[in-house]
Amino acid sequence: MSSVPLPESPTPTAREEHNAQQAQIVAQQAATTIEAGEPYGNFSDDGYETDQDSTASTSISSSVRDYAFENGRRYHSFRSGQYQFPNDEPEQEREDMKHAMIVNLCGGKLHYAPIKEPQNILDVGTGTGIWAIDVGDEYPSAEVLGIDLSPIQPAWVPPNVKFLVDDCESSWMHKPNTLDFIHARHMVSSIKNWPKLLNQAFNTLEPGGWVELQDIQFKAHCDDDTIKDDYQLEKFLRLVHEGLAVFGVDAASVLKNKQLLMDTGFVNVEEKIFKLPVGTWPKNKTMKMIGLYMSSVVNDGLNGISMGPFTRGLKWSREEVEIFLIGVRKSLKDTSTHSYLPFHVVYGQRPLDT
Ligand SMILES: C[S@@+](CC[C@H](N)C(=O)[O-])C[C@H]1O[C@@H](n2cnc3c(N)ncnc32)[C@H](O)[C@@H]1O
Repeated sequence: MSSVPLPESPTPTAREEHNAQQAQIVAQQAATTIEAGEPYGNFSDDGYETDQDSTASTSISSSVRDYAFENGRRYHSFRSGQYQFPNDEPEQEREDMKHAMIVNLCGGKLHYAPIKEPQNILDVGTGTGIWAIDVGDEYPSAEVLGIDLSPIQPAWVPPNVKFLVDDCESSWMHKPNTLDFIHARHMVSSIKNWPKLLNQAFNTLEPGGWVELQDIQFKAHCDDDTIKDDYQLEKFLRLVHEGLAVFGVDAASVLKNKQLLMDTGFVNVEEKIFKLPVGTWPKNKTMKMIGLYMSSVVNDGLNGISMGPFTRGLKWSREEVEIFLIGVRKSLKDTSTHSYLPFHVVYGQRPLDT
């Protein structure tokens, strides 16, 4: 018996339409005000799904496999001490969860810079490489390079994606005027010298190429006065700032990204700010799901985020950190506090005549 091919659907399915509507509502609320609802209500199953079946053909090459251990966590050893957060399995899972959360918040977008048929993409501080792999799938004709201090990327990746162990704060070895897109996400807690990094990005981009920075501001906000003075999450975020400052990292520099890009000489600079809810307090189901992701990302990361800055930087003992975190965990469960962290997307273009 011959099989009859199914007709192609000429119009979007009801589910696709529903998903598109949801993405619109989320984008609108993330950019304005998130409506509060029942914290334990239903979740939608409309979340972004990452492609688990990417074609595999190329393995990464790196001999930097040594790690440092401290306070029960594993850290990078290449340029040891440069980055204050762990690189072990729990941290990698958390980074991948952050990726799903951010892509959801951005309605499925991996970037906002208006790149057209990119050929050479650089992902600075690629982490588990999840963004680089997804962008490699989205632009199969582009070569994507992800660089990081840690060789924690998967061994099998799409053929157009490569990884390299490298310190992005050192002098760049990439050929000048060659890249058409440079992306750096969640790097505000890492980079000490943004002007130097952005200058190197400018010179490495070809004229007309784009740079994009995506980062969370480590400060709890709310639109309805539900954050009280003793909100422990806010105290935690403040201490992370203080701990990172000891190492010359200004975590508040996310607020300067737009100006930094303009000062470097980038043009057509745009900034978008989205609200990232903490917890299940939003009414909208997708927002509620994003809030659940966010509280898990923070809860699962409390130990990893604080150990380096608090013990190395602020000289707390491991026990002092653990005791302090009890109160922070409690604050994350408090659904009467409608807090969110701003997520900043800034992109700009190297002028064509440079
Ligand atoms: C918070 S993670 C973000 C990972 C990735 N960008 C993402 O959004 O999924 C920061 C990453 O930057 C890397 N990193 C920090 N400082 C770096 C440096 N100077 N050069 C290269 N990578 C660095 C860390 O090893 C870590 O993997």
